[in-house]
Amino acid sequence: MSKIKTAFFCQSCGTQHAKWQGQCNACKAWNTIVEELIQKPEKSDWKSSTAQVKRVAVPLRINEIDTSKEPRLDTFDAEFNRVLGGGIVPGSLTLLGGEPGIGKSTLLLQIALKLPYKTLYVSGEESQKQIKMRAERIHSSNTNCYILTETKTQHIFRQIEELEPDIVVIDSIQTLHSDYIESSSGSISQIKECTTELIKFAKETATPVLLIGHITKDGNIAGPKILEHMVDTVLQFEGDRNHVFRILRAHKNRFGSTNELGIYEMQGSGLREVSNPSELLISKKDEELSGNAIAATLEGMRPLMIEVQALVSTAVYGTPQRSATGFNAKRLNMLLAVLEKRAGFRLGAKDVFLNITGGITVDDPAIDLAVVAAILSSNEDEPLQKDICFAAEVGLSGEIRPVQRVEQRILEAEKLGFSTIFVSKYNKISLKNTKIKIQLVSKIEDLADFIV
Ligand code: TYD
Ligand code: MG
Repeated sequence: MSKIKTAFFCQSCGTQHAKWQGQCNACKAWNTIVEELIQKPEKSDWKSSTAQVKRVAVPLRINEIDTSKEPRLDTFDAEFNRVLGGGIVPGSLTLLGGEPGIGKSTLLLQIALKLPYKTLYVSGEESQKQIKMRAERIHSSNTNCYILTETKTQHIFRQIEELEPDIVVIDSIQTLHSDYIESSSGSISQIKECTTELIKFAKETATPVLLIGHITKDGNIAGPKILEHMVDTVLQFEGDRNHVFRILRAHKNRFGSTNELGIYEMQGSGLREVSNPSELLISKKDEELSGNAIAATLEGMRPLMIEVQALVSTAVYGTPQRSATGFNAKRLNMLLAVLEKRAGFRLGAKDVFLNITGGITVDDPAIDLAVVAAILSSNEDEPLQKDICFAAEVGLSGEIRPVQRVEQRILEAEKLGFSTIFVSKYNKISLKNTKIKIQLVSKIEDLADFIV
């Protein structure tokens, strides 16, 4: 075996050290020293036996570059395709991150089982039997799908050479281990080295690789930030584990937009694609209840009708409580202050609870007006009409501000049978012949007149 050379480098100032230590002598930073490869053995690449084809890149004039569309591999999953921008690009590395138990392994196994191409699913976390049991649970089987339990990259590449799969799934990058680095799996240097080997393999053979990545407590992908720079696409799978909805978002995409989003529902038999989420998110109630309002929001490029529930009650203890689920608590306080100051509602001595149903978190400011409407409705104990919805932002002086892509929201509300949508007077709307009534409002006092 030829020689492998590694050394320890400080990630913040670059100083080389003879051994690992907690603090860098040069810049005094803690925990920045990482083992790195400086010389690999001759046959270090993912390919060990076959001769390597070395391609040398040459510069091309920009107008000579062939722009005919990259062929993409269809994943046979409309939501996954949409988020990727139309399918998997050959030779690309896609990283899927998400909390434990959210359904990352289920999603990729389900996709692997749907593909008509030869797929290798490598798991470092579960045994072949466990994976087979999961596959039975999602009622799927496919003779093109191979399962391998292995964590050593050199062994994985040996199997890949033999099998020559069209697509490789790795569950997860944190369990992989390369012989060339001493440190344990999941350490920064291991993740970096294993990813480098996988990138080399993907680019040289044009085989796409899908990687699963763990996330840390604060929601970032575990491992070095540089991992996210190395891969082509970073997807995030999110949702509340106690709710059935799961949202797939692209945080980075070299081959498409990051505005698209995929929605799934976790069922007993795996993940189901949800193509019309609004219908599922709005509970169909017969009686009208106070404190409920519906917002026409946009998640990425997709319109989504979301139900907002508020409960306003007299505070029993000295300090009123304010709590928000799925909505920014600071923004709730701001909206309450605006209602108090600009519209004269005495909410200072009331408890206010706010909940976005379906376990979804909304950042879209267009939800403000529905939040205000739900609070007013609960405060007066006066139900809103069932078939009205809201799409506008509320400003600090109580003005109702326009939101982007309002026409798309109006059309979605119309499609779902709403009779009236409240939007800002300052939105430019050029829609004609809509069945839905577009109610323009400019101040929250106006809204209060309409609904209570
Ligand atoms: P999993 O894919 O193992 O999560 P991750 O790889 O992100 O850690 O998903 C685990 C959860 O999904 C588990 O708590 C059970 C649930 N689940 C279902 O509800 N239905 C199913 O068909 C499957 C396979 C899992
Ligand atoms: Mg898993």
